Amino acid sequence: MSYPSTPWWRYPGFALGLFGTEKSFRKNPLIGDPRLNALGLHRERVKLAARMANYRRGLLAGAVSAEERAAFDRDGFVIRHDALPDEVFKRVRDFLKTRPLPAREMRQGQAMTRMIPIGPTALSRLPDLARFSHDASINGLIRYVGGIGGDPVHFIQTVIAEPALHDADPQTALHADTFHSTSKAWLFLDDVGPDDGPFVFVPGSHRLTEKRIEWEHRQSLIVSNDRSAYNVEGSFRITPDELAQLGDFTPRKVTVPANTLVVADTYAFHSRAASPRHTVRVELHAYHRSNPFALLPFSALSLVPGLHDRRLDIHLALTDRAAKRAGREPTWRDVGECTAYAPAHV
Ligand SMILES: [Fe+2]
Repeated sequence: MSYPSTPWWRYPGFALGLFGTEKSFRKNPLIGDPRLNALGLHRERVKLAARMANYRRGLLAGAVSAEERAAFDRDGFVIRHDALPDEVFKRVRDFLKTRPLPAREMRQGQAMTRMIPIGPTALSRLPDLARFSHDASINGLIRYVGGIGGDPVHFIQTVIAEPALHDADPQTALHADTFHSTSKAWLFLDDVGPDDGPFVFVPGSHRLTEKRIEWEHRQSLIVSNDRSAYNVEGSFRITPDELAQLGDFTPRKVTVPANTLVVADTYAFHSRAASPRHTVRVELHAYHRSNPFALLPFSALSLVPGLHDRRLDIHLALTDRAAKRAGREPTWRDVGECTAYAPAHV
């Protein structure tokens, strides 16, 4: 097997990537190799990752109530109402409406996403944020849903949909984020109605059925020639017709009152609903992804004092530096300080 455009010495690294989170069919030529995928490389990674996640969930189950475990098993996501004590919730929302914090922004078509890290700066100005980012029950649920140990990354997320700008938002197509269970959480600061660009989730689509395995395998054979950048990056889109062939699924708009926590396994199919009007959605958000083949639900990084709160700032500093070296704008543009509810800068 030879790949003339890639130097040979990079292949040990690519091979190692097969045993981790790497998902791109473009960046890792082994993951994207049609011959290896015809032999079942992608299919076997998917199957092994699902088995390992289920095994680790068994070890993480003690931190989650029986009702929430049942909801996850059935739907692939969990909805928890009144997630923060009322007075804490009100203080958090009032602060975020009026007081600026260091922010980053990214645009995808008509949708602008803002990220305000819940790190040392935000925590020192609004200690109540720790009721979300340091909460054992919330983090326990996030770990269980993703089937992974370690600490999630927490930030305040704003999504502003501006339909007047006509580009489509790529996140409004149903997709799985990657080939294995990962966890995302949203604690909504305002009511989310059907026209507020809510999250759309396909209940039950987190399960690795035989039909899903076959679909994953078929996708792995065609994806390298696919024109969709998202497919080739390993975040597979699915059409309504394909979804109907996988089973009796009905996508559901997750409309919720303020102070509701939603934690979802984003291996299940999901999207943002296309927004017919200008909308602003603000949420306390957590993102949790780790090696899907890890034997234990545990991360040595959790033992490093203070690292949990600083991880996102460190990651952003590193990506800023890489972008500068490559002579391009970073994906997450530093827009200085603004409130979570401020209009878009990018
Ligand atoms: Fe997604």
